[in-house]
Amino acid sequence: MDLHVGRALSEGEIALLLTEARERTLLLTAGLTEADLRRQHDPLMSPIVWDLGHIAHFEDVWLRQNVRGGGTGSEGLSGIYDPFENPRAVRDSLPLPSLRECRTFLAEVRRRVLDGLSDLPLGGSNGAVSGASTRRLLDEGFVFRMVLQHEYQHNETILQTLQLKQGDPYPAPRSMSAPSASTDAPSTDAMVRFPGGPVRIGTDDLSTTYDNERPVHEVELNPFAIDVHPVTNGAYLDFIEDGGYDDPAHWAQEGWAWRREEAVDAPKYWVRAENGWSERFMDRLGALDPSRPVCHVCYWEADAYARWAGKRLPTEFEWEAAASWDPASNRRSPYPWGDEEPSPLQANLDALVFETTPVGAYPSGASALGCWDMLGNVWEWTSSDFHAYPGYQMFPYPEYSEAFYGPDFKVLRGGSWATRFGAVRNTFRNWDYPVRRQIFSGLRCARDD
Ligand code: AVJ
Ligand code: FE
Repeated sequence: MDLHVGRALSEGEIALLLTEARERTLLLTAGLTEADLRRQHDPLMSPIVWDLGHIAHFEDVWLRQNVRGGGTGSEGLSGIYDPFENPRAVRDSLPLPSLRECRTFLAEVRRRVLDGLSDLPLGGSNGAVSGASTRRLLDEGFVFRMVLQHEYQHNETILQTLQLKQGDPYPAPRSMSAPSASTDAPSTDAMVRFPGGPVRIGTDDLSTTYDNERPVHEVELNPFAIDVHPVTNGAYLDFIEDGGYDDPAHWAQEGWAWRREEAVDAPKYWVRAENGWSERFMDRLGALDPSRPVCHVCYWEADAYARWAGKRLPTEFEWEAAASWDPASNRRSPYPWGDEEPSPLQANLDALVFETTPVGAYPSGASALGCWDMLGNVWEWTSSDFHAYPGYQMFPYPEYSEAFYGPDFKVLRGGSWATRFGAVRNTFRNWDYPVRRQIFSGLRCARDD
């Protein structure tokens, strides 16, 4: 059995999806001044005009050049939009185009892509395109979904930048208010048990997923228990009030060194006031809501919390098993709730609510095992380093995954409120340095059972 999450796309569908992606990118950046877009708001993030130009450049490379066998076959472009040549911290010293030039570039590339669509054999095989690797790009619409997901992922990156924005706060274009927790939701300390045994991890899908999600392989899991909900602000506050940040016993050695060095004593956007804590969202400072998941913690904080709670972080395989495995039917599904693509019913995704939502607010999104909020709300740190699966084959360029494999990065799973619907699924693997916390990251705990 495989988790087939996509299929070939028609010319009309490709045009619709590309248009929708671009409208979102433009919506997210619409209210900003040229100065806001050009400014490096934080050394961790690019000036937003860089993201915009890079989105256009990536689309040009893949949907105009590589798809016709004419390109370098890599994101390893040259010039200012090469992310390896130009690390984020130096991007404000690049000769970036003006906002107007940037918008023209986006529109120009897009027009050429759409004009050229009818020349491409979208069904996959034969026709104008020669070469096996070029054909594989078009098979099942892969390269279009790759370019779409690239834009989606940069949307989330842009939102990380906008939360770090200097000057006036970013006026978040919210389209929904936060739902409240369901009265049927299990309690915040509930756990569910996974019996262990061999589980299938990953996918062989070639239409939608990234190379790092492939191939399907079997992993032997010991029995474990995993939290029904992500760790809440309320529970994390208990950790803080219990002196969790001051007791090295809870921290990994490297984590303790980080905590000392950074002199950190709370998640990144928590603000301490006389009468208690507040949490800063994009353009809103609210009293800390104990029922929302803790967000903007780094791996070391997540790990310390879990130890303090007498638990541990799940491995990425345990996480995926809890999201996808139905013990009753002995089947896996591409989303926690089954086969349907995500919608506002099942998860806090797609930057609709524009902030975290209370845990237990998405009964229809629970996994078969009984875990809620597996997709959306906050990315969840796992204890796993980012490595290739056995049998991994790079496709279509090494700079997406391969360049990052190794012990420097930890895997995060599940997506956040800022992740677009099309950019997440049970098998999706995100990764970052264990010290990063400008990302929309929280955790869920597990333990041996
Ligand atoms: C998968 C989120 C780690 O932002 O570095 C964007 C996504 N890759 N352009 C990143 C990505 C190329 C990537 N992450
Ligand atoms: Fe990129």
